Amino acid sequence: MSSYAITGASKGIALELVRQLAATPTNTVLAIVRNPESHAISSLASTHPNVHILKGDVTDPQSILEAASAAARITDGKLDVLIHCSNAVDMSTMAYNPTQFPFDPAATRAAFEPSLSTAVYGGLWTTNAFLPLIEKGAQKKIVHISTGMADLDFTRKSGVSYGVAYSVAKAGMNVQVAKYAAELEPKGIKVLALSPGWVDTWEGEKPPQVIEGLNKMLKEFQKVEPELKEQIQPEESVRKCLQVIDQLDAERSGLFLSHNGNTNWL
Ligand SMILES: NC(=O)c1ccc[n+]([C@@H]2O[C@H](COP(=O)([O-])OP(=O)(O)OC[C@H]3O[C@@H](n4cnc5c(N)ncnc54)[C@H](OP(=O)(O)O)[C@@H]3O)[C@@H](O)[C@H]2O)c1
Repeated sequence: MSSYAITGASKGIALELVRQLAATPTNTVLAIVRNPESHAISSLASTHPNVHILKGDVTDPQSILEAASAAARITDGKLDVLIHCSNAVDMSTMAYNPTQFPFDPAATRAAFEPSLSTAVYGGLWTTNAFLPLIEKGAQKKIVHISTGMADLDFTRKSGVSYGVAYSVAKAGMNVQVAKYAAELEPKGIKVLALSPGWVDTWEGEKPPQVIEGLNKMLKEFQKVEPELKEQIQPEESVRKCLQVIDQLDAERSGLFLSHNGNTNWL
């Protein structure tokens, strides 16, 4: 009988986390979304009484504090596992290499803002809002969903030079996770930065430019993992991530691991 809160649960990996966790009827799954009316999560909740949809925007401290209060009312003030999965990026600069950023403070800040707000500030506010519940939970686990793109060795080997703001914000997330692990160790709370692998979360048919981008990434990623053929599906990513979360203990707290439970990011 475990309780989970997952941010960004309207789609993608977080939605699949809700789906797999909800399949165990004794789990209580709190799906935190910006829009509680969003179709996929509301239809999942309509067939799973153990899924509770809570409104919460991780970039708005008041909103995420209200989500934590609503969660506490459902779970009697306790939570076993918090998974911070929300992510946003500025798509207009996602393909930029570092040298392409302009000498324009407002434009540069705007390029970094969505990534920093969700990964770094959102990670802080969500964790701090849910911490009183985690302290009373049995498992005492906090997981921030990161990316192998934030790993220095992976960047060096793959030669991926774009996705600057995204990767920098997730690298910040990884350090922040280590700081939380150091602070919360005396309370028995374990904190992990977890990369889900390269996962196909695109909804609907992919436009030609997306396919082109994915083919470029595949070639870069094959420099790290020559056997790689394609993205994995959310089902596989989440199944493996949940195993890593199950195995999270004091020894692994503060680490940055992949869905494989190590530093193989693909
Ligand atoms: N897919 C991959 O290959 C991959 C690889 C490495 C790491 N990751 C990481 O895995 C996580 C999930 O990835 P994904 O591909 O499933 O992402 P996705 O499909 O883009 O979903 C992102 C989620 O974040 C939510 N979100 C955005 N801004 C938010 C905010 N301010 N407050 C609350 N929720 C917000 C979105 O909700 P709305 O519906 O409200 O916009 C959406 O549910 C992300 O952290 C991503 O960086 C993914």
